[in-house]
Order: sequence, then structure tokens, then C-alpha cells
Amino acid sequence: MSDRDRFVVVSGGGTGIGRATAARFAQQGDRVTILGRRQEVLSAAAAGIRGTHPVRALAVDLSRPEDIEARLGELPDRVDVVVNNAGGRGTPAEAGGLKEVAERWRRDFDNNVLPAVLLTEALLPRLASPGGRVITIGSVAALRGNGSYGAMKAALQAWNHTLAGQLGSRGATANVVVPGYVAGTEFFGGPASEEELARRRAQTLVGRVGEPADVAAAVAFLAGPDAGYITGEFFNVNGGTLLGR
Ligand SMILES: NC(=O)c1ccc[n+]([C@@H]2O[C@H](COP(=O)([O-])OP(=O)(O)OC[C@H]3O[C@@H](n4cnc5c(N)ncnc54)[C@H](OP(=O)(O)O)[C@@H]3O)[C@@H](O)[C@H]2O)c1
Repeated sequence: MSDRDRFVVVSGGGTGIGRATAARFAQQGDRVTILGRRQEVLSAAAAGIRGTHPVRALAVDLSRPEDIEARLGELPDRVDVVVNNAGGRGTPAEAGGLKEVAERWRRDFDNNVLPAVLLTEALLPRLASPGGRVITIGSVAALRGNGSYGAMKAALQAWNHTLAGQLGSRGATANVVVPGYVAGTEFFGGPASEEELARRRAQTLVGRVGEPADVAAAVAFLAGPDAGYITGEFFNVNGGTLLGR
């Protein structure tokens, strides 16, 4: 192992943005571990990524503290970069009473807030100090609404402030990358229609929708040597979707 090897943990690394991020780190020579609930999806992703080192795939439900504790021994002893990417939109508003409303909000909390908070807490004692980087994938939904999902992404932004404060004295940073619409992931459960893609393109200032690699590039920058003085930030990667709307 060279002095320059970095250990990178990417949650939700089996698909979409997480997979592209894992590939980016692996291709630049880092030692990458990907996490997700489905072992077969993770194993297929790891096998398909060509990097300097093989990508490790570990199945764990990051919303469950006991699952994380059970797998901690299999995670690297030193972690240079944590990418909190696991998350997703719960079922959109469904009919029902308060019970259904409460269930939806709890599900979105479990899906989006707990995976980032629990994984980070678990890895904090192993985070490189100085030099560690925690990068969390938020969403424009935090600023545009989108019900309980947007509220959970907003919660991650508030949490990131506290985390950045904690990490500062250790010479480590914490930032949130804020994508807009990104095609080619499992997020929406299937490919978008042409009409939907046209609507999404029109929301941007650059006339195209985002790709997983766009987000991965921003994560790689924030994890890289030129970003050591950037912390507590929300880093928009959405083709200008937020501007003017
Ligand atoms: N696509 C977009 O337009 C968009 C826009 C803004 C923000 N985002 C955010 O980007 C991130 C990545 O989403 P994506 O678009 O790439 O969608 P995706 O393909 O559905 O990726 C989400 C990943 O998270 C994993 N995951 C979910 N819950 C988990 C849990 N409890 N424990 C472990 N892993 C879990 C999933 O794997 P398993 O199901 O196997 O666990 C999956 O690999 C999410 O945080 C999402 O909110 C996406």
C-alpha cells in the first residue's frame, strides 16, 4: 500500500450516482467500499468497475443501527472519504389518514436521514484527521419543496453545519452536494418519458439533464486536495436549475 492510497466508503454505491462516484474514485486509484442493501446489485457493480484495486461490496441496511454495528469490522480501519449517497424518494403522497402521513414521513426519514447520520457517526472515529472528507448527497428538493423527501434533504443540510463544526478542529471537512434531476438511476423506478425529460431539461439553464458522472465529478473535487478549505457548504450541481426559479 502506498502512502497515497485513500480509503473511500460510498453508500448506495451499487446503482446510479453512487455507482458512478465509486467508479470515479476507483479509477483514480482509491480503495473503495460500496454499501447498499442488495448484495447481488453491489457485487455486480463492484465487478463492473475497473480500478487500480478491486471494489469491495458490503450489504448493510444503513437505516438500522444494529446492521451497521454488525458490519463495522468489515469496513476499513481508516477512512479518508465518506460519501453519504444512499437515499431515495418514498412513495409519493398516497390516500389515507394521519397514520399514512406519519408512515410516509417516517419512511423518508429512515430512507434519507438515518443512513447518512448513522454511517457518519459509525465512521467518525476512523476518519482521517487531518484530511478526512464527509460528502453527503442532498437535493434541490431541500430548497424547492417536494414534501417529506425535500424536508429530509433539508434536515441533512442543517446536520451538515454541525458536522462541519465538529470536524473543523480535526482538519476534516463536511459538505453537501446538491443535484437536480439526474437521469440513469433507480431513483424514479424506471426510465423517464420523453415529455418528462423535456420538462426537466427546460428547468435547467444548460439545456440538458444531469448524469451520475456530473455528480461524481463534484464529489471527487470536494474529496480532493484543492477543496481542503471548503466546508459546511451546499455545492449545487444542477445545471442552474435553482437559478431564476
Ligand atoms: N436521481 C435524481 O434525480 C436525484 C436528484 C437529487 C438527489 N438525488 C439523491 O442522490 C442519491 C442517489 O440516488 P440515485 O438517483 O442514484 O438513485 P438510486 O439509483 O435509487 O440510488 C440509491 C441507492 O441507495 C441505496 N440505499 C437506499 N436506502 C438504503 C439503505 N437504507 N441502506 C443502504 N443503502 C441504501 C440503494 O441500494 P439498495 O436499494 O440496494 O439499498 C441505491 O443503490 C440519493 O440520496 C438521492 O436522494 C437523486
